[in-house]
Amino acid sequence: MNSKQHILLLKKIKKMKNKIIITGGAGYIGSHTAVEFINEGFEVIIVDNLSNSDLSVLDSIKSITGVKPKFENVDLTDKDKTSIFFETHKDAAGLINFAAFKAVGESVQLPLQYYHNNLNILLNTIDCMDRFGIRNLIFSSSATVYGLPDSFPLNENSTTKRPTSPYGNTKKIGEEIIEDFSKAVKNFKAISLRYFNPIGAHSSGDLGETPTGIPNNLMPFITQTGLGLRDELKIFGNDYETKDGTAVRDYIHVVDLAKAHVLALQRLIRNEGYENFEIFNIGTGIGYSVLDVVASFEKTTKQKLNYSFATRREGDVPILYASTLKAKEELNWNPTLTLDDMTKSSWEWEKKRNI
Ligand code: NAD
Ligand code: WQD
Repeated sequence: MNSKQHILLLKKIKKMKNKIIITGGAGYIGSHTAVEFINEGFEVIIVDNLSNSDLSVLDSIKSITGVKPKFENVDLTDKDKTSIFFETHKDAAGLINFAAFKAVGESVQLPLQYYHNNLNILLNTIDCMDRFGIRNLIFSSSATVYGLPDSFPLNENSTTKRPTSPYGNTKKIGEEIIEDFSKAVKNFKAISLRYFNPIGAHSSGDLGETPTGIPNNLMPFITQTGLGLRDELKIFGNDYETKDGTAVRDYIHVVDLAKAHVLALQRLIRNEGYENFEIFNIGTGIGYSVLDVVASFEKTTKQKLNYSFATRREGDVPILYASTLKAKEELNWNPTLTLDDMTKSSWEWEKKRNI
């Protein structure tokens, strides 16, 4: 083969690369997922309006993967602009829908903004996917759709209940919209991934979670306290019926979570699903208490954390952990990163971003 033929072949292979759209790909989970897709040889297009992220993430993805993903700044609640975006990228093999507002407490104060943003993003996205012939959707759902559960571990057939927050309700309604649509349009396929508690950061220290203001979630509150940005962690409740009285959650490393998206999309592309709409829990299946997380942080960072006990936080469930059997068997997904990996990488990220 002469060099001209070689270049033509390379161009052809490049063209054959599966292109995927990641909405909300500049955010915490989306950026880690972009890395995993690029590592698997996909061409990644990120679309985000940067309402909770910034463009520096593109350089971080490049420094990890060697590839800077294409980026388009679009508010996906804007029907016309969303349509123009899809027209340009209608050759995509699939779409991962991360774009959403996600602050539980804020959603209680601003319910209409949450319903407007999260549901219009989804409606516009599905409508455009349908009109431009993109058939494969992965949806970011949440364990919050199980509400206050009756028994454990939670599997995908466990009863869903009305979530306690408008944010959570956008996830439940979102799943229902997708389920109805995938029944109506036979060649449209979707997978909803119900995340448990994503924490951790990329091992490079270049990507992680960047909460605005005072963090609501446990892990960033711990790392900011460790760094002295907060005086102490308040542990909400030590009178739960758990081994040490503090609430139990199923923490999942964001990199393991990101990998689940690649496997889920491959399942859709290869047409391996049993139904047009499938649901998978994404957790480790292990429940850790708040004090377990604190102990892991103290061990991996070799420092004591200031904390005290406070009353329970309204709306918190005592215990939440997943059965992850279905994801293991059907997606062949096996989370490998431990709680220590999660607390250590979160700490490295917090230190690096505060230099
Ligand atoms: P994130 O806020 O870091 O990322 C979401 C991204 O969506 C942001 O970059 C934001 O700018 C973008 N966005 C929001 N509204 C938009 C709009 N109208 N148009 C275009 N872009 C828009 O959040 P995350 O933690 O990475 O979460 C990603 C997804 O996973 C969300 O759907 C969230 O609800 C879901 N989820 C997150 C968790 C968690 O604990 N982080 C748990 C379960 C589910
Ligand atoms: C974990 C544990 C707190 C902060 C939330 C959303 C859920 C999903 C994941 C998106 C709880 C305790 C926390 C603090 C504490 N997100 N805690 N002191 O509430 O399980 O889940 O994020 O879908 O929908 O609700 O996560 O990190 O806030 O709390 O004691 O300062 O840590 O009470 O037991 P949560 P979290």
